[in-house]
Amino acid sequence: MAQRKENIVMFPFMAQGHIIPFLALALKLEQQKGYTIAFVNTPLNIHKLKASLPPNSSIRFLEIPFNSTDHGLPPNSETTESLSPLLMYQFVESSPSLKPAFTKLMSNLVKEQHGRPPLCVISDMFFGWSAAVAHKFGSFHAIFNAGGCYGMAIFHTMWLNLPHFNVSSDEVSLPGFPEGYSFQVKKLPVSLRTVPGPWEFALKMFREWLETDAMLFNTVEEIDQTGLKYFRKQFSCSVWALGPILSPLGSKARAGKEAATISNLCIRWLDTKPANSVLYVAFGSQNTPSQSQTRELAMALEASGKNFIWVARPPSTFVESNFSDPSLEWLPKGFERRIRDNNRGLLVQQWAPQMEILSHKSIGAFLSHCGWNSVIEALSNGVPMLSWTMDAEQPFNAKMLEEEIGVCVGLACGTDSEVRHEDIVRKIELVMNGTEKGKDMKKKACGVREMIKRASSMERKGFKGSSVKAMDEFLNAAMQMSKKL
Ligand SMILES: *[C@@H]1O[C@H](CO)[C@@H](O)[C@H](O)[C@H]1NC(C)=O
Ligand SMILES: *[C@@H]1O[C@H](CO)[C@@H](O)[C@H](O)[C@H]1NC(C)=O
Ligand SMILES: *[C@@H]1O[C@H](CO)[C@@H](O)[C@H](O)[C@H]1NC(C)=O
Ligand SMILES: *[C@@H]1O[C@H](CO)[C@@H](O)[C@H](O)[C@H]1NC(C)=O
Repeated sequence: MAQRKENIVMFPFMAQGHIIPFLALALKLEQQKGYTIAFVNTPLNIHKLKASLPPNSSIRFLEIPFNSTDHGLPPNSETTESLSPLLMYQFVESSPSLKPAFTKLMSNLVKEQHGRPPLCVISDMFFGWSAAVAHKFGSFHAIFNAGGCYGMAIFHTMWLNLPHFNVSSDEVSLPGFPEGYSFQVKKLPVSLRTVPGPWEFALKMFREWLETDAMLFNTVEEIDQTGLKYFRKQFSCSVWALGPILSPLGSKARAGKEAATISNLCIRWLDTKPANSVLYVAFGSQNTPSQSQTRELAMALEASGKNFIWVARPPSTFVESNFSDPSLEWLPKGFERRIRDNNRGLLVQQWAPQMEILSHKSIGAFLSHCGWNSVIEALSNGVPMLSWTMDAEQPFNAKMLEEEIGVCVGLACGTDSEVRHEDIVRKIELVMNGTEKGKDMKKKACGVREMIKRASSMERKGFKGSSVKAMDEFLNAAMQMSKKL
């Protein structure tokens, strides 16, 4: 790159599911577009991030102080991973306290550039307040939403229209969606089903969203039209689909020797299996099924006769007390030995190289919590899914995959629902045993994969993919604003 372009300031919320897509977008803006990136976060997260950056990146990390104990949180809480749902609300609500420090940080950046403001601030959806800060200094402001558009649209309309939770019916309507769209109450995440009343933080955040200049989504125009239409109707700012923004680090974001070893193990094991024969099971970094659900799942995996890789973490309800092998006591007796002996399954603890696994030809389906990063990785690789949603907008993502795209079968919702291994087996067979439904899902998944590929294809013979075009439009809009100064 001949000359470094201007500064873009990126500021994700302090959670794995937000930081990773922000870093992926940052790397794209730096390495493909040549911008200088300042990446803002709290000290512990920055410390971790520094280790996972490719050596040729010069993304600059800027620390913003945050003392969790000041907000009634456990000491050194700088991500959501170790927090209970209740503390998570508290953590999110504490985030506007970062405003003075962020204002100061912006002021320093302006000074450093002799009065010239950063071209653009790209903030998390939780940091709607940063629009006012960006504008104060004359910078363009965009919100990058790490979720899918459809799922976030349901999230938005639900919080805006909470009073209709009072209805005693099984379904809630979705104001702002086309006629006839509704959502089953029993599939709502606990955090929404048990909400005592309006969440003031969310309502304020939605008002702050009205001040941003643009909304960016890690999605693809062609697969997320219902959601994009919703946002374009609700907000007057530009709404751009820039996805898929996949980490060029693969899933090796957690770099290190141990990760490389696990990576090799998984890929070598997959290499020994026939095409489309392996079920990949993973629930993301935030939640896990309950202990009884985990046992049913383990029984189902054995009974299904399928090959599988299972990223198995202790159940959310597992009580750690007097046991000999803390990591595996929650599995059925002898489970690990049996699957090792017949070479049917691979248990991976804590972490797996998800992108590498999903892109392997041996993978036939993905049992997922349907967090958006997982969804976009599965769709990019043409992998059909089974949904077992946990929290947040995941059940809405699953609805989209099932009803709009047709690449997913619903398996379970939440950690408090009853699941039976017979039902799990039946659904695994529906997807993986060559049924009409299973074949149709695979065909659709491959179609979506091609659509996604096309969306991100660079200009050639006059054709430019929708996501490439959206990125150009976004950067041009920011440039136009900076010229006006
Ligand atoms: C940095 O390295 C990655 C591979 O690790 C490569 O894809 C990328 O093009 C490189 N970027 C620059 C600006 O050299
Ligand atoms: C955070 O604040 C508490 C008291 O409010 C203080 O005891 C502690 O040292 C602070 N921690 C850091 C890392 O500044
Ligand atoms: C539900 O209805 C009751 C009375 O009809 C009302 O007091 C309450 O605020 C409503 N709940 C929500 C979440 O709006
Ligand atoms: C599905 O396939 C597995 C082998 O992968 C086999 O054991 C099982 O019997 C099949 N189930 C049905 C219903 O055909």
